[in-house]
Amino acid sequence: MKKITIKLALFFIFLICISSILSFIVSTLFTNNIENEIRLNQEAIAISILQLEQKTDLSIDEIISITATPIYDVRRLEDVDLTGITKEELEKVHSHKITFLSHSRLHRPTIILMVNDSFIQISLHPHNTIFKIVASRVWFTLLSYVAIGALLIMLLAKRVVKPILKLTSATQEVAKGNFDIQIKNKSNDEIGQLTQNFNKMTRELKNIEYLRKDFITNVSHEFKTPIASIQGFARLLQKGNLSEKEKEEYTNIIVEETARLSNLSSNILKLSKLENQEIVEKEVVFSLDEQMRRSILLLEYEWSKKNIEFDLELDKVKYQGDEELLQQVWINLLGNAIKFSNGDSIISIRLEQTDSTVEVKISDHGIGMSEATMGRIFEKFYQGDKAHSYEGNGLGLPLVKRILDLYGGNIYVKSKLNEGSTFTVELPL
Ligand SMILES: Nc1ncnc2c1ncn2[C@@H]1O[C@H](COP(=O)(O)OP(=O)(O)OP(=O)(O)O)[C@@H](O)[C@H]1O
Ligand SMILES: [Mg+2]
Repeated sequence: MKKITIKLALFFIFLICISSILSFIVSTLFTNNIENEIRLNQEAIAISILQLEQKTDLSIDEIISITATPIYDVRRLEDVDLTGITKEELEKVHSHKITFLSHSRLHRPTIILMVNDSFIQISLHPHNTIFKIVASRVWFTLLSYVAIGALLIMLLAKRVVKPILKLTSATQEVAKGNFDIQIKNKSNDEIGQLTQNFNKMTRELKNIEYLRKDFITNVSHEFKTPIASIQGFARLLQKGNLSEKEKEEYTNIIVEETARLSNLSSNILKLSKLENQEIVEKEVVFSLDEQMRRSILLLEYEWSKKNIEFDLELDKVKYQGDEELLQQVWINLLGNAIKFSNGDSIISIRLEQTDSTVEVKISDHGIGMSEATMGRIFEKFYQGDKAHSYEGNGLGLPLVKRILDLYGGNIYVKSKLNEGSTFTVELPL
């Protein structure tokens, strides 16, 4: 038996006892005239005895047998002194008055009267009085009430405690690292809600655990490929016997791969720094349209290679924030637009200010994305199918998303496979 069920049952018994005692006190306060009532009844019997004696020829014994009731015992007394009667009371009796005994030896209301020189005593029946029967019934009812109530409370408490026990063992499982646990729950009360939240928590934990494992796998994978290729080409160079042209080609590959590695680690570092950051520091006012133009210039090497042109419509917008972080957003989005654009195409950029937001739209005419790709582009290390033939590690958009989250901004994407993509960024003012 669990402790809480016993506690509840004890609590119930305690409540019953307290309320019984209190109600008993209250009821005696209001029914203290019960003795009075008995006295009146006995007096009535005494009066009818006297009347019967006066108006009929019945003998005393006959009168007694007529007037006795199951509640009141009427009898003739041989020795009146045995009743505990006082002198004054005896005088009263002798003067033919109905006398109520103040200190009856019977310990119950008693009346003495005199009829034809015999003493007659009227008192409550000593055995099996209705009061005793009623009292025993009341006691029995009360006791069985407490016993049945306590039993029912224990059964009920078991039902209440069951989900708590389930939760306890489930939390122990979670502490051991098992996040697969889900508790069945149908109720919607407080414990039901606790269970629902527990289930939600384990799902989240499982997700986080999955992401963490996934992240490590992805990082190792992204590092492995360039390192393997550097190792391979370095071995070839080590062996010698290579033409000048081959030597140059291999060293170029090694330089490119090291650049990729350094880019990858700097992106991972940036992302991890941003994920641990909650607020944007370095708030300065700068010109967003200027920053846009500068970002395009920084990427000149990439777009001029593909002969890409820009169509700009930039409002003059002053913005307060971390200049470097926002530059990173434009570089990543423009970098993608250029990377996934077809050659000789146009990229259009719109910068507009409304009352409460700044909106930036970057549209390209490139490979576009399928619905499935669009749904996953903000996941770390995710690269669309076609994107694997391009450079990159799939960290650009997660970085953008994290920076915009810090700003309370939003990013939306519209895209059609083989037609092009439009990324819209909203920044709060
Ligand atoms: N303008 C775009 N057109 C088509 N596909 C895009 C575009 N921008 C992003 N994507 C898709 O989203 C994926 C994720 O983009 P993200 O910038 O995060 O990674 P990446 O560009 O592949 O690598 P990294 O940015 O780390 O160099 C890309 O691999 C690509 O499939
Ligand atoms: Mg990118």
